[in-house]
Amino acid sequence: MTVEDDIRISLRSRAALIALVTIEEQRAVAILDRIRLERDPGSDLVTWDVAEGFASKAGNGLPAAATPVMALDKIRELVQKNPDRRDLYVLKDFHEFWSKDPMVRRKLRNLAQLLVYTGASLIVTTPRETMPRELADDLVVIELDLPDEETLRAELDALIDGTAGLVCELTGHGRAKLAQAALGLTVAQAKRAFAKAIVRDSVLDDRDIEIVIAEKKAAIRESQALEFFTPAEGPDDLGGLDALKNWLSLRERAFAPEAAEYGLPAPKGLALIGIPGTGKSLTAKMIGGLWQLPLLRLDVGALFGSLVGESEERVRRALRLAETVAPCVLWIDEIEKALSSGDVDGGTSQRVFGTILTWMQEKTEPVFVVATANAVATLPPETLRRGRFDEIFFLDLPTEAERRDIITVHLRKRKRDPREFNVAQLARMSDGYTGAELEQAIVDAMYGAFASDVDITTADLVGAIQRTVPLSHSQREVIEQLRSWLRDGRAQPASAPEGPAGEPGQVRLELS
Ligand SMILES: Nc1ncnc2c1ncn2[C@@H]1O[C@H](COP(=O)(O)OP(=O)(O)OP(=O)(O)O)[C@@H](O)[C@H]1O
Ligand SMILES: [Mg+2]
Repeated sequence: MTVEDDIRISLRSRAALIALVTIEEQRAVAILDRIRLERDPGSDLVTWDVAEGFASKAGNGLPAAATPVMALDKIRELVQKNPDRRDLYVLKDFHEFWSKDPMVRRKLRNLAQLLVYTGASLIVTTPRETMPRELADDLVVIELDLPDEETLRAELDALIDGTAGLVCELTGHGRAKLAQAALGLTVAQAKRAFAKAIVRDSVLDDRDIEIVIAEKKAAIRESQALEFFTPAEGPDDLGGLDALKNWLSLRERAFAPEAAEYGLPAPKGLALIGIPGTGKSLTAKMIGGLWQLPLLRLDVGALFGSLVGESEERVRRALRLAETVAPCVLWIDEIEKALSSGDVDGGTSQRVFGTILTWMQEKTEPVFVVATANAVATLPPETLRRGRFDEIFFLDLPTEAERRDIITVHLRKRKRDPREFNVAQLARMSDGYTGAELEQAIVDAMYGAFASDVDITTADLVGAIQRTVPLSHSQREVIEQLRSWLRDGRAQPASAPEGPAGEPGQVRLELS
């Protein structure tokens, strides 16, 4: 059922007061106007806002009303005079007034109760999802989703047809791709992005998809909590962690239509728990590239607004945006940070966290959630319940074989040939070092060598490793506490089982 059907049914069932939740006011009014014309061509759509007062779509003369209370009084008079008219009254920004003024809430409620026995309806457009409690009984809340591909395609087609002198070199398929690229934008934003692509060179072709995607990235950034990530990392940047990599590559085509036809459900998500610096964030970044899906990062810290209710709204908006972009990967880094403010914020963080967890449980769109955490002690136990995630992986300190792999990755990344170094020796001596620490040692050695105008050698790397005190030595208890997660069987090891000689092999490590 579309939003329009939802509105139609509510009107027919005499819901006299509807709250339409959207930031797209113009689009909401256009939809309502379409609906009222189709219901009754003789009806009117009357809008009211504090700057312009009343305005009639049908061109009817209307009284002046400077305040929301006056507007409600005038509507009451108009409706009482003609109770059979099926007019729609759209009140803009009413959330500003009803939150401040009890008189507005009371009048609105009285009017709604009267309107049930007439043909007219009241619609409030609001960007907020929180409604005054007193109105709950008389209010139907409908959320206007972001425009779908079909709507965006219609806007694009109209823009192409309406622009004189435009050379359109897009095939039907190209137009569809351009409309798809705008998914996640509002109609107004999409129109601006299309217009920008058109005016750039008066030619519309495949290259313009990039422009639309760039606009989308900017718009998503503005949502404050979501960030579009362009992954630079691939599977080759990640050393070791073979069990995890295997799991991921088995699901490489899991979001393709063929997978659904085959009868496979879309994967829900992955939790990566582990020791700091073992590649959790790196893995999350890599998945987008590996699966060829857009990668969105949810910044939990940025969710917390200053106003009451704002944080929850932000998180809902961010999650909805992710659903619109789906199929995509939603990366929630350091999920425990959502709870770090504890009780001091009047429970806001708990509610935000709860909103995320509930959404994860109930989401139907193919949004693959990758959550990372290292302070698992602060997380409520239900967070990492199976069912919410397809799998929970634990990233332990790398094994010797993995350290070889990681050192090789980072030497190669810095344009050094790993064969010129004794990688085996370096891996053997760095027991207890994380990937981040190994990388740091390589960088430190390079700085030293660069300053003395020579190239690095194995000896420099040995020195740098010896100078580093790994976290696993300085914070043994923290690491042990984390590892108990793996021992309790609450997570799968992300590394492939280690062989007897530290070589990848078939023998499973006894973990306790
Ligand atoms: N397995 C690995 N292979 C290659 N590089 C690694 C690996 N693990 C860590 N690194 C290096 O260390 C850096 C930091 O790792 P990352 O940010 O992924 O750690 P993390 O597990 O998310 O740590 P934190 O818990 O502190 O957020 C990475 O950018 C990468 O360069
Ligand atoms: Mg991290």
